[in-house]
Amino acid sequence: KNIAIVMGGYSSEHDISIKSGGIVYKHLDSEKFNVFRIHIYLQNQGSKNLTNGIWAYLTEDDKEVPVDKSDFSITFHGKKINFDCVFNAIHGTPGEDGLLQAYFELLGIPQTSCNHYQAALTFNKRDLLSTLKPFGVQCATSFYLNEEDPIDKKRIVEKVGLPCFVKANRAGSSYGISKVYKEEELKTAIENSFKEDHQVIIESFLEGTEVSVGVITYKGEVTVLPITEIVSENDFFDYEAKYEGKSQEITPARINEEQRKKVSQLAEDIYKIIGLKGYSRSEFIFVGDEPYLLEVNTTPGLTEESILPQQAKAAGIELSELFESAIDEALR
Ligand code: DAL
Ligand code: MG
Repeated sequence: KNIAIVMGGYSSEHDISIKSGGIVYKHLDSEKFNVFRIHIYLQNQGSKNLTNGIWAYLTEDDKEVPVDKSDFSITFHGKKINFDCVFNAIHGTPGEDGLLQAYFELLGIPQTSCNHYQAALTFNKRDLLSTLKPFGVQCATSFYLNEEDPIDKKRIVEKVGLPCFVKANRAGSSYGISKVYKEEELKTAIENSFKEDHQVIIESFLEGTEVSVGVITYKGEVTVLPITEIVSENDFFDYEAKYEGKSQEITPARINEEQRKKVSQLAEDIYKIIGLKGYSRSEFIFVGDEPYLLEVNTTPGLTEESILPQQAKAAGIELSELFESAIDEALR
């Protein structure tokens, strides 16, 4: 089978995705699969202009061979190659927000992440949380801003209190996130978030233990992986804490049995309510014994520092098995 690992992407998470894709490439068995790395990127990386993406097959010696976007094929050494399955290792747009999912669905090429609607919904923090609230899922109080809206600091603080979190509504890896302590800091934080997205969500601060719950479909079963507790050395689980070692990620999390059961069930319920497939990793904060949902990632990081691979290992699943199973599920 010909497998295309798509990696890179148009957002600030480009470099992380390249690492994730590289780990997948390293662990997929080349005796079983013909694996191709497909690099999807923007010339003007990180801009919010989604057109004119460059898509290229990366050869063994890192040369780029253009992808024919009309059918997602490549022509290499005079031979046309089509793909049986896409391994989606793109974080952020266009791999986590439904754009690529819709494209592959139209072309009829199976891919490892969830479908386009589920991806678009989960990648939009506002829409995800408001969809789940009627199902009893608890989350922070929030305020929402479009780029053209006036910034009414008083109203924001009245609603969410201080400190609060200012987040790009559709972004990942903590790009565009700040913790704000004073009303005067709000404007700069909001402008910082607008660098990543046209929409900003401002949330009340939840104090408590932060946990990350991986839910994947493995061998045909929805499976909750061992839970990870996140202890950040920084003020919150920011980019540096995530990728530069400024945090401790403890698997299994030091939570009590009641909390473990509750958050495992909740993460599994969310997976099923949304109709996810493939991998997911949901973030929660315990307020007392009650888990509050922060977000759901549908193409979670697969780098050496990333949490889902650590959780898989803790469950006794080797990375090669984890990645192969995603392909098996996509082709099922
Ligand atoms: N957005 C990053 C890659 C994650 O969720 O792991
Ligand atoms: Mg995220």
